[in-house]
Amino acid sequence: MPRILITSALPYINGIKHLGNLVGSMLPADVYARFERARGADVLFLCATDEHGTPAELAARAAGQTVEHYCAEQHEIQKKACEEFGLSFDHFGRSSNPQNERLTQHFAAVLEKNGLIEERVDRQIYSIDDQRFLPDRYVEGTCPHCGYEKARGDQCDNCGQLLDPIELKDPYSSISGSKNLEVRVTKHLYLLQSKLQNAIADWVASKPGWPQLTKSIAGKWIKEGLQDRSITRDLYWGVPVEANGKPRPGFEAKVFYVWFDAPIEYIACTEEWEAAGKGANWRSWWRLDDGADDVRYVQFMGKDNVAFHTVSFPVTLLGSGEPWKTVDALKSLNWLTWYGGKFSTSQNRGIFMDQALGLLPADYWRWHLMANAPESDDTSFTLEHFASVVNKDLADVLGNFVNRITRFCASKFGQEVPAAGDYGETEEKLIADLDAKIAAYTAALEAMEFRKAFAELRGIWVAGNEYLQIAAPWTAFKTDPDRAAAGVRAGLNLIVLFAALSSPVIPHTAEKMFAIFGLDPKEAGRWPSSARDALSFLKPGHTFELPEVLFKKIEDEQVVEWREKFGAE
Ligand code: MF3
Ligand code: ZN
Repeated sequence: MPRILITSALPYINGIKHLGNLVGSMLPADVYARFERARGADVLFLCATDEHGTPAELAARAAGQTVEHYCAEQHEIQKKACEEFGLSFDHFGRSSNPQNERLTQHFAAVLEKNGLIEERVDRQIYSIDDQRFLPDRYVEGTCPHCGYEKARGDQCDNCGQLLDPIELKDPYSSISGSKNLEVRVTKHLYLLQSKLQNAIADWVASKPGWPQLTKSIAGKWIKEGLQDRSITRDLYWGVPVEANGKPRPGFEAKVFYVWFDAPIEYIACTEEWEAAGKGANWRSWWRLDDGADDVRYVQFMGKDNVAFHTVSFPVTLLGSGEPWKTVDALKSLNWLTWYGGKFSTSQNRGIFMDQALGLLPADYWRWHLMANAPESDDTSFTLEHFASVVNKDLADVLGNFVNRITRFCASKFGQEVPAAGDYGETEEKLIADLDAKIAAYTAALEAMEFRKAFAELRGIWVAGNEYLQIAAPWTAFKTDPDRAAAGVRAGLNLIVLFAALSSPVIPHTAEKMFAIFGLDPKEAGRWPSSARDALSFLKPGHTFELPEVLFKKIEDEQVVEWREKFGAE
C-alpha cells in the first residue's frame, strides 16, 4: 500500500479564511487526499493553524483578548469551519503546541552546531512611547516603491514588495500611532542560507516533475542567490529563543520568526497526531532512518508560499544534517480574486468560509471552486458564474440524473433494481466511453490538474445523461419493458459509479448517493477501475430509497441579495 503524506499550507490564526484561501491550499489538498484514500493508499493528511507572529499579536490586541486566549478561540472556529467544509484532515494541529516548540528549538540547535546560525547586530525601529522594538507589521508607513501610505513593515499590500521596516518613509507605530521612533541596534539570529546555495540548487534540480509555477518561483530565488535571513523577532508570542535549555542571553524578549517555526509544525503536527491517539510512529512519516523512505510527500500552497517551501524550509531540513523527509510533489496555486479584486474582511469584500456555509452546503462551493481552480492564472470569483455553474453542472446534469432515474424506476418497477432484460449494444458503447473518460479523469487527478480533472468528471455525468436519452426507458417501456428494465438497471448503477468518482470533490453528496442504496461509502467508494464491473455492481432486487433533491438551483434574486451583502461590484 503506497504511503502518502499530504500537507496543506497552514492557515494564519488571525480570522476565518475566505474562499480564496480555501481553494489556494486546504481544499485541493483535501480532494487529493480523498482521491488517494479511495485508491487504497495509506494517507496521512495534516493541517494546523499558524499561530505565531505579528498578525496574531495584533489581531488579539484588536479583539481585546490575550493572545493565548485569542488563538485558542480562533483555532476552534477555524477547525469547525474546516470540518463543515468536509476537509478530512487526520489531524488539525496548532503551531503553538509544545511539540512544535521543542522541535523548533531542536532545529535551531543543530543548525547552530553545524555553523549555519550566527548572532548579528541589526538596526531596527524602536518606539520610545511604546517602549519596544517594532518588528514587521508593528510599524506602518509610506512604501518607498509605490508611495502607498499604509504599507506594512514587512510588505506593501499595494505593490506587493517585501520590505524591511527601516525602509518605510514617515513610519509610525501600528500599536499607538506614535511617530516618536528611532533606529536602535539589537542582536538577532541569522540563518546562513547562502552557505546552502549549492545544496538547495542540487536538491531543486532533483525534482524535475514539479509543476511549472513551482519550478519558476524556486528557480528565481536560487538564481538571485540565497540570502542569509534573520530568524528571530522582538515579540512576546512565539517559540522562545534558548541556549542549553535556558533563555539565550540577549534574547530574553525575543522569539523565533513565525516563518522559521511554522513549517516545522508539519512535522510537529504528526507528533501531535500520535499524541492524540490517532496513529502510531510519527517518525515513520518523517525520518528516512525510520521508514520514511517509502513515503511520497505532497504539499499544497498558494504561490506566495512557494519560496518558503522550496528554499527556506529545505534549508532547515537539509542544514540539520539529519535524515528528514523532504517534499516530493509541490502543487502551488494562483490567486482567486473577488470580482477581480482583493478579498477583505475590513472592507467587507468577499465571502468567508463561515458565511459561505450559511448560504449553501459545502459541496456547492467545493465543486465550483475546484472546477474553476486558479491553476494556470489568477481567477476571478463572481456570484453570477458560481450560480450558473451550480445550476448547470450540479442541478441540471448530476442532480437531475439521479432524480429522474430513481423516480422512473419507482413508478414502473418499484423501489428495487429491476432484473429483466440484458445489456446490449448501447451499454457496450457506454462502457467503452466511460472507461476512456475514467482513465483521463484519474490521470488528471493523479497529476493534480484539477480543472482538467473536473471537466472530465462533468463529461462523465453528461455521458450518463446522454445514455438515458438514447436508451430512453420511458419510451421503451411501452413496447419493450425488458429493454426498459435493463436501461433502468444501468442508470441506477451509474448513480453508484458517479458517487464513487465524485466523492473526492463533493463528498457529502456522494454519501447521499450511496445512502440511496444503503451502501457503505468505504466499500462502495473504492476507486472504480472498470465501467463494466460498475454497471453490474447493484444486483437485481437491491432495494433503494427515493432521494431528496440533491441540489437546489440558485435563483437570480439570491444572486442580487448576495452581491449586495458581500460587496460585489
Ligand atoms: N500561514 C501561512 C500563510 O497563510 C502559511 C504557512 S505554511 C507553513 O501564508 F509552511 F508555514 F507551514
Ligand atoms: Zn508599495
